[in-house]
Amino acid sequence: MVDIGGAKLKNRFMNASGCFGYGVEFDRLMDLKKLGAIVVKGVSTVPWRGNSGVRIAETPAGMLNCIGLENPGVDYFLTNYLPFLKEKEIPIVVNVVGRSSEEYVEVVKKLAGSGVTALEVNISCPNVKAGGMSIGTSPETANQVVKAVRSETDLPLWVKLSPNVTDIVEIALAVEDAGADALTLINSLTGMTIDVRSKKPLLGNITGGLSGPAIRPIAVRMVYQVAGRVKIPVIGVGGITCLEDALEFFMAGASAVQVGSGLFRDHTLLERLPSEFEAYLEEEGLTAEELVGIARRNVNA
Ligand SMILES: Cc1cc2nc3c(=O)[nH]c(=O)nc-3n(C[C@H](O)[C@H](O)[C@H](O)COP(=O)(O)O)c2cc1C
Repeated sequence: MVDIGGAKLKNRFMNASGCFGYGVEFDRLMDLKKLGAIVVKGVSTVPWRGNSGVRIAETPAGMLNCIGLENPGVDYFLTNYLPFLKEKEIPIVVNVVGRSSEEYVEVVKKLAGSGVTALEVNISCPNVKAGGMSIGTSPETANQVVKAVRSETDLPLWVKLSPNVTDIVEIALAVEDAGADALTLINSLTGMTIDVRSKKPLLGNITGGLSGPAIRPIAVRMVYQVAGRVKIPVIGVGGITCLEDALEFFMAGASAVQVGSGLFRDHTLLERLPSEFEAYLEEEGLTAEELVGIARRNVNA
């Protein structure tokens, strides 16, 4: 077991929210028990339809999406998905979304006593008009929303940060100050693509979130910067496609990692990564704790 901000995980490898549905979808593709924890797609107070039009576009080293947090709502999640996840006996992290502090708090209240392991408050989705990234790009609103959620729950509280900011450390410190137990970074970067035949933006939402290998160096940089300043654990996410990619995040200071778009190309990746990681540590004669943040210590040595 690994402790990440008070949440006991089976290992340091999880899926990233939104790239794994609610687990049911991946059940026939992989052994879910191999996951350190399952992170479900964002859930809101009531069902959200998401954006209309084209919602996914391929890019040279990743993808753009503008799903817009389509989800069936927290009540549906509790009734229809949570029993299945509990049967699997894997730690369950619920990604929480809202358009205002009140909406985040309402979802969190409904999750009280449900048996979920941790909350991941998403203040970073670039594809919704209210809430999401509009909250997570200002230290003041980020602090305010996280404080509101913190006062409602004793569950381990992770907060997912947006890379679409000038100073990620400023936001991370504001969220830590509000009582977060861990930080997940990064969500996708705002991008855009144009269909040159129709001469119009390809995505229905005009812009979308860029994910995949293209964003990995940015994510690694942000994890390095944030982990050097906060006292709470950092969970690294962005463009992981193999063990080496994950190692970069650990060396930058992440205590655990998540894999998102990488699963669309290789759905068995999360089955292999935990054992590959253990084999690597053994070969190097290192503990996981020694590996986390080693790149910074080597710079300062
Ligand atoms: C199709 C899709 C849907 C996503 N939905 C969510 C979501 O509901 N909540 C969230 O916090 N992040 C969501 N994300 C962001 C991912 O969790 C992750 O932060 C991002 O894709 C970067 O990681 P990756 O490069 O490994 O995909 C989504 C990403 C994709 C590609």
